[in-house]
Amino acid sequence: MYSDRPVDDSLLNDLLRMSCRASTTGNMQVYSIIITRDEAMKKNLSPLHFNQKMIMDAPVVLTFCADFNRFVKWCRQRKAEPGYDNFLSFFTAAIDALLVAQTFCIAAEGKGLGTCYLGTTTYMAERIIEVLKLPDGVIPVTTVSLGWPAEIPGQVDRLPLDAIVHSEVYRDYTPDDIDRYYLNKEQRADSQQFVKENNKETLAQVFTDVRYKKADNVHFSKMFLQTLKKQGFMNQ
Ligand SMILES: Cc1cc2nc3c(=O)[nH]c(=O)nc-3n(C[C@H](O)[C@H](O)[C@H](O)COP(=O)(O)O)c2cc1C
Repeated sequence: MYSDRPVDDSLLNDLLRMSCRASTTGNMQVYSIIITRDEAMKKNLSPLHFNQKMIMDAPVVLTFCADFNRFVKWCRQRKAEPGYDNFLSFFTAAIDALLVAQTFCIAAEGKGLGTCYLGTTTYMAERIIEVLKLPDGVIPVTTVSLGWPAEIPGQVDRLPLDAIVHSEVYRDYTPDDIDRYYLNKEQRADSQQFVKENNKETLAQVFTDVRYKKADNVHFSKMFLQTLKKQGFMNQ
């Protein structure tokens, strides 16, 4: 939930300037950031983010894009032949864009602002491209809503560090490890509520059968691959 307090342009620009200090592949800065403040534009974006309320509630919505368009134009204007119409280049640009996005979130939260990522960007990339008028070589990879928080939400759980960090080589998980690492998450009251509300037996089933279903993943993967092709990232 965001308060009505506006986010002024000078603060937003400071945060953007800071986030563009993030490390970037070969210092190419193969990303672009689209600012959405306009209500009509937010209305266009909202259904593409499955009407998640942050789009209309937040005063600022930022779409972080993988962008080889600008760099390719520079190459061509300088008698250099770019070879960036491939999946690796997309992935490179997507990494750049995500590093900027996360740096932005840390900078914004450091100033007391609230941010939220919207993963719906990759589901509906093709339609977002139309709304934001993104040219070939540009793909939206994530969206962040920004505003002053109306309340400070409680901290969300994380897996214990032990579950995440491996020393020297990857140590695969035994069934006991899995039980131990996920126990706290499964025992949380909100998790148990989730399981009950969705008539499921386990929390994992809420993920596999409700939140991130195979059919959706397959469908949106196909759409995203088509969009990558359309935007010129599949070796054309
Ligand atoms: C790539 C990405 C996509 C996300 N997409 C959404 C989203 O569409 N809607 C949402 O409410 N939260 C979204 N989130 C936020 C996560 O659900 C949230 O970070 C996680 O539950 C942990 O909460 P915390 O960040 O407050 O600790 C996304 C986070 C990431 C990194």
